[in-house]
Amino acid sequence: MTRRIPEPFRIKMVEPIRQTTAAERASALEAAGWNPFLLDAADVYIDLLTDSGTGAMSDRQWAGLMLGDEAYAGGRNFHHLCDAVAELFGYAHTIPTHQGRGAEQILFPELVRRCGSAKPVFVSNYHFDTTKAHVELAGARAINLLHPDALDTTRAADWKGNIDLDALQRTIGELGAANVAALIMTVTCNSAGGQPVAMDNLRAASALARRHGIPVVLDAARYAENAWFIKQRDPACADLPLPTIVREMFDCADMFTMSAKKDALVNIGGICALRDDAELARAVQVRCIAQEGFVSYGGLAGRDLEAMAIGLREGLDEDYLRWRVAQVAYLGQRLADAGIPIQTPTGGHAVFVDAARMLPHIPPEQFPAHALACALYLEGGVRAVEIGSLLLGRDPRTGLQERSPFELLRLTIPRRVYTNDHMDYVADCLIAVQRHAAGLRGLEFSYEPPLLRHFTARLRPCSKEQAKAA
Ligand code: F0G
Repeated sequence: MTRRIPEPFRIKMVEPIRQTTAAERASALEAAGWNPFLLDAADVYIDLLTDSGTGAMSDRQWAGLMLGDEAYAGGRNFHHLCDAVAELFGYAHTIPTHQGRGAEQILFPELVRRCGSAKPVFVSNYHFDTTKAHVELAGARAINLLHPDALDTTRAADWKGNIDLDALQRTIGELGAANVAALIMTVTCNSAGGQPVAMDNLRAASALARRHGIPVVLDAARYAENAWFIKQRDPACADLPLPTIVREMFDCADMFTMSAKKDALVNIGGICALRDDAELARAVQVRCIAQEGFVSYGGLAGRDLEAMAIGLREGLDEDYLRWRVAQVAYLGQRLADAGIPIQTPTGGHAVFVDAARMLPHIPPEQFPAHALACALYLEGGVRAVEIGSLLLGRDPRTGLQERSPFELLRLTIPRRVYTNDHMDYVADCLIAVQRHAAGLRGLEFSYEPPLLRHFTARLRPCSKEQAKAA
């Protein structure tokens, strides 16, 4: 038997969490319009909604908070952040932002302007939902070219985050390189299950884009987990130090946007950085001032910048990453052992349960993964999130539900927060739900917001008749 990897940290501070009764959960979910996003966190026992901003900072990061320089301009923590970005990634221009989407909103309009096309597009292995929203707000279209390997959750493949290189070549050929504002490589690929992108895929996609003069953007929220997978799975990289792998990944891009709330281990923060394009950096800085804050704080306090500079390096600690990825795999294995269908192999930040296979009687338009999220909450106070038709929404041109390639329930593990006893509890709850899965019903809207609907939608369970008709 392989030995379990214990936490590579001691717990110095604790935050009590409270279990609720089944009756309390039923009334909380009803009040939240059957949307776990609208639950009070106090009514949640184990919160696996997201790994974003929910991690635990280290004692060094907390100490860093005390070193905040709250000068309006040119504070020392900004320079510490620039130093960390230059050292780890080799980029000259660092623009802090309040979080990842802040970086997207100041960069993408400039890329569209530069592209100059009347019909600009962004191509990606997969645009995260805010990334897609900012591409569209900038007047462009977002095209996902995920490798087909990722779509079959039953098939284990090492690199399910890869972009489909043939499709990329075809798309550039069909649309014309002049219309492609950027290639965005999302590492790891969140929407496909926190799945890694291989180094050779990153290199090949980048070379293809560069041959056509298309800028390459890394969506680097989970840069450390992706680098860890490369070290584990790519024999050519097995002996390389992690920072070398990271540098090679970032060498493939010209700029990056980063939500620092993931692998950089902070509760708030983001970065937009450019390798060497001073002119583009200046244009992005102007947008930063208007939308985020002055260029040396970007919507954050000086202390936040310090915690982020420390977290960028801490996120690459190999003992931490070994444990982190093993914890996700542990939860996945417990579910798989019980016959619950999951995206295999497990990814870096979450276990993705294949609700389309677990609840085949619920059609996509009744949101099977969301129904599963509600059942899991009712069972044990565990909050997870749907990544499927509800999140994808409608085609803005036709108003019809877009066809989602997946109906997944994401059990997202915050960093350094829960132990494997918590993972066992989550697994036990989902296994209990599995026993009555055939009796679960889909949901319908009682209120459907026009945009980013999954955050604020209100729903109700379908009637027996509707469920039967489907
Ligand atoms: N890119 C990726 C790949 C992300 O996963 C996220 C956020 C963002 C960009 C946006 O960053 O939230 O800091 O503005 N993902 C979170 C999630 C919200 O739950 O997966 P942000």
